[in-house]
Amino acid sequence: MLFTLVLVSIVIPLVNCNCDEEFKIVCYFSSWTGIHPDAKNCTHIVYTFARIEDDNTLTGIEFSEEYRKENRHPLVFLGVWNNPLKDFKNSKDPQLKILVAIGGQDYAIRRANDMMSKDEYRQKFVISTTKLLRTHEFDGLDLNFEPSEALGPPSTSTPQLIEDKKRLSTLCKDLQEEYAEEAGRTGRARLLLTVTISGIKKELESRYDLAELAKCADWLNVQTYDYRGSRDKIAEHHSPLMPATHVEGRDKDLNQDTSIKYLISNGVEPSKILVGLPAFGKKFRLTSDLHDLGSPATFVGSVPYTELCRNMMSGWQRVFLDDRKVPIMIKGDEVIGYDDLQSMELKINYAKEQRLAGMFIYPVNFDDSSGQSCNQGKFPIVSLIKRLTSNYTVSCTPATTPPLTTTVAPKNRTKIITPRWKSSRIDHFIPGGGLIRDHRRLHNASYSVTSTHLTVYIYSIFLFLFLL
Ligand SMILES: *[C@@H]1O[C@H](CO)[C@@H](O)[C@H](O)[C@H]1NC(C)=O
Ligand SMILES: *[C@@H]1O[C@H](CO)[C@@H](O)[C@H](O)[C@H]1NC(C)=O
Ligand SMILES: *[C@@H]1O[C@H](CO)[C@@H](O)[C@H](O)[C@H]1NC(C)=O
Repeated sequence: MLFTLVLVSIVIPLVNCNCDEEFKIVCYFSSWTGIHPDAKNCTHIVYTFARIEDDNTLTGIEFSEEYRKENRHPLVFLGVWNNPLKDFKNSKDPQLKILVAIGGQDYAIRRANDMMSKDEYRQKFVISTTKLLRTHEFDGLDLNFEPSEALGPPSTSTPQLIEDKKRLSTLCKDLQEEYAEEAGRTGRARLLLTVTISGIKKELESRYDLAELAKCADWLNVQTYDYRGSRDKIAEHHSPLMPATHVEGRDKDLNQDTSIKYLISNGVEPSKILVGLPAFGKKFRLTSDLHDLGSPATFVGSVPYTELCRNMMSGWQRVFLDDRKVPIMIKGDEVIGYDDLQSMELKINYAKEQRLAGMFIYPVNFDDSSGQSCNQGKFPIVSLIKRLTSNYTVSCTPATTPPLTTTVAPKNRTKIITPRWKSSRIDHFIPGGGLIRDHRRLHNASYSVTSTHLTVYIYSIFLFLFLL
């Protein structure tokens, strides 16, 4: 009895905690854009997105009809299933872990809901993931069932929410058991299992059994961005670190600090949490004479980090929001809430102060891979995280870190009106300059961007020839 207790207390923390490990730098990689991620400073690469077939298996090779209709470039997907990074891993970086995310788009989420609706479907799916991941030498699976804006808000009926919550936890537990069993049987390193969850507090309250997910998953990726988007009729920042001082009610919850504190106070160990660092901003166009955050506006789209750098060199004006701890850029009647190296540094320090397990970059394709758009070297975002966490290990010893230093005194509402802001109401949008309506729809949108299109096309041809 005593022995069991001792054993349990020793084994459980080891199994369940990402303690005394290096800070995780998880790079989400959108395979269809064709840019090869430089894996050097990423500890994990996550390919987005795999789908679930009509027969509830994760095969990814035999596409369903609907899948074929939606995907004009299956070749690029073939690249994922052949896991092009496995050679890099095998020859140069054996520590690198490569995962596949399932979810992402509406069709995939509908299929996932269907798969989770019956025990028989779910069991078939669970077994199929092991087979697929092992065949292509992947190291794990990320459950990324985030309903997109196009799919509408998630169900709000209480019985349905409870049922959905239960289904996700059951899937997570079944996968955990399967991967533990498979590792025991084969003697191979256990496959990783991660779950990506919303950052919006209201959804955290209603849609997940957080304590259960924290137990079955190796870690939870918290989408601490996309707090604002096409549903909003006002201009606001989509990824603030801290709350805005002038807002009230639910809007005050739309920031990283609130999300992370909510998770921790609801039983999720910090060592199970990864915060998201968006490599994109969100642009709004103001629709009235009010030129201020919170003013009426329409959502324009997501803007990749490289494009933000080019904006900064072409007349956009940057204003740092002292309360939210993030910058906006403004020009004419347009405003973009985004992250730059200054706010990213604050977010990285936040993750360290809160003893979180790491960060994920979404998506790493938007980082400046060549170093030519931003003049900050190659992959400035990934490199910044690496530099600030290189001598750092995630510790699980509580209360050894000082309290957060990023809090701010209440202030008057941030006025962003400037003469330039008001007077230059001209159309400065550069057609084909890489603006993407919604990063979730990047898959379709990127083909309308000439230069990206060309890159993808050439890449696909090379890939095809290579495969032959
Ligand atoms: C990796 O990060 C280090 C430290 O920031 C940096 O010096 C190096 O250039 C980065 N390498 C790549 C390939 O991004
Ligand atoms: C990391 O530690 C080494 C050895 O202690 C030191 O030389 C180096 O400057 C440190 N790097 C950073 C980024 O703090
Ligand atoms: C807020 O604005 C009012 C009126 O513009 C001013 O009197 C007051 O000093 C300001 N308060 C702060 C904290 O800046």
